[in-house]
Parts: sequence; C-alpha cells; structure tokens
Amino acid sequence: MHLGIFADATTAAAAAARVILEEAARKPSFTLGVATGSTPEPLYAHLRQAHSEGRFSLENSHAFALDEYVGIAEDHPERYRNVLRRELVGSEKTGLTDELLHTPDGSAADPYEAAANYDSLIKEVGGVDVQILGIGADGHIGFNEPGGSLVSRTHVEALAAQTINDNARFFDNDTAKVPSRCITQGLGTIMEARTLVLLAFGANKARAIAELVEGPMSAYWPATIMQMHPNVVIVTDEAAASNLKLTELYNERWAMAFGN
Ligand code: GLP
Repeated sequence: MHLGIFADATTAAAAAARVILEEAARKPSFTLGVATGSTPEPLYAHLRQAHSEGRFSLENSHAFALDEYVGIAEDHPERYRNVLRRELVGSEKTGLTDELLHTPDGSAADPYEAAANYDSLIKEVGGVDVQILGIGADGHIGFNEPGGSLVSRTHVEALAAQTINDNARFFDNDTAKVPSRCITQGLGTIMEARTLVLLAFGANKARAIAELVEGPMSAYWPATIMQMHPNVVIVTDEAAASNLKLTELYNERWAMAFGN
C-alpha cells in the first residue's frame, strides 16, 4: 500500500491524476473505473485539464462506474450516470463517449439480473486497469456497506443509515429522498482491478482511513479488504490522515515510489 498525505485535496488529487496518466500512457486500451461522491471531483478536474492539454484521453476507453442508485429517475441530476456524464463525457471533458461509459442499470425491471450482467461486462472488456475509489465514513467502497461479503460480486445492496444521512446533502437534505437501494460492484469485483487509487479528504474520513490502513481486515470496515490487493495508492489530506500512527513510514515509502 502506498499512502500519500498532502496539504489539501487539490494537491492530493494531482498526485492521483499522475498515477492515472502514467497507467493510461502505458496501455493502448486503457479501462478506467470511476467513482462518484464529492471526493473525486478535484481529480476529474485534473483529468479534464490534462485532456485539454493533449496529455490524456479516454476517447477509446471504457469507463465503469462503481455503483448506481436503484429506482432513481433517469433524468435525476444525482443519478450517478448523469453525474459522471457531467464530469467526464464529451470532447470538452475527457473524451469519454457516452457509449463507453458503463453504469449499473438502476432502472432495470430486475436489478439482480442487471447486477450480474454488469459484472460479466467488466470481464468481457478485459477488466479495469485503474479503479478510482472514495470511501464512506463507515468504511464502504462502492456501496459495499459493513457486514457484506468480502468477496462479493456486483450485487443489489441496502444503504446504511450513515450513508443515507451523508448523501442527503445531494437530495435537498431530506433523507426520505435518498434511494435506499443500489447496485454496486462487489468487493471481489473491485479487487480485480489492476490498480486501486483511493482518495479521502476531511476529518470525517479519518476513522475509516485508520481502519483501512492500520486496522484488522474485517467486513465491518469493508475497505480493509484492500490490504489484500498488491497495488494500492491512497491519497489523503492531513485531516483524513490524522488518526494514523505510522505516518513517517508512509511518507518515506511514498517518497521511495513517487519522489517527494
Ligand atoms: C458514496 C459513493 C461512494 C463514495 C462515498 C463517499 O455514497 N457510493 O462511491 O466513495 O459514498 O462519498 P463522498 O466522496 O461524497 O464523501
């Protein structure tokens, strides 16, 4: 695990962008796993900037979202497909095409079948090269809430009360408007991505980051499964890293791999 601790979200996101640009340059058919929530926004700004400067393009790339709300209206601005369209799709953004942006079908008559199909599609296109991740305050990645299987495939999930409260800010601060179900890539699915890049900002992520990096592996803190992945890059601001014990070691390991 490589952990970079930065003064603020913009600098941390720049470091995450560098990892993605390098991986994309290495592979002609690069597939990116994309996340939603507010955390990846500064990273997407860096990717758009790199695209505008001709240093990065998702023009021929597949992109796979981690998750989608079940039952959300197709034109709802917080439907993750619509969020990702705004952030990434089009030649003025990152070059990603709407056809190659894949999101689980939260409107499907049978969401269980839609989940299984989504998992198969990721395999069919050859898997995800770099998966971008945020983390919930309760340690969820994607929407894999505490107590689920650590080897799950893409599945229908119920949202934890903590997540519904946290996400109410996107739904007029009304928890009743937050969908209670979703389709999410499973932890087993996420773990098959070749590189995982997780971003976390703010003090309300400090406990989850401490559990992820230094806690025991446990379904109660789903992100801890990442301890079993050989290629993980985590970037945080100082607040999100404030509960960690071995920061000097992490700084040294980061400098060894990426320079200062
Ligand atoms: C959301 C998403 C996750 C995201 C997390 C944190 O509900 N499903 O993919 O990482 O919760 O969100 P934020 O980045 O807004 O704090």
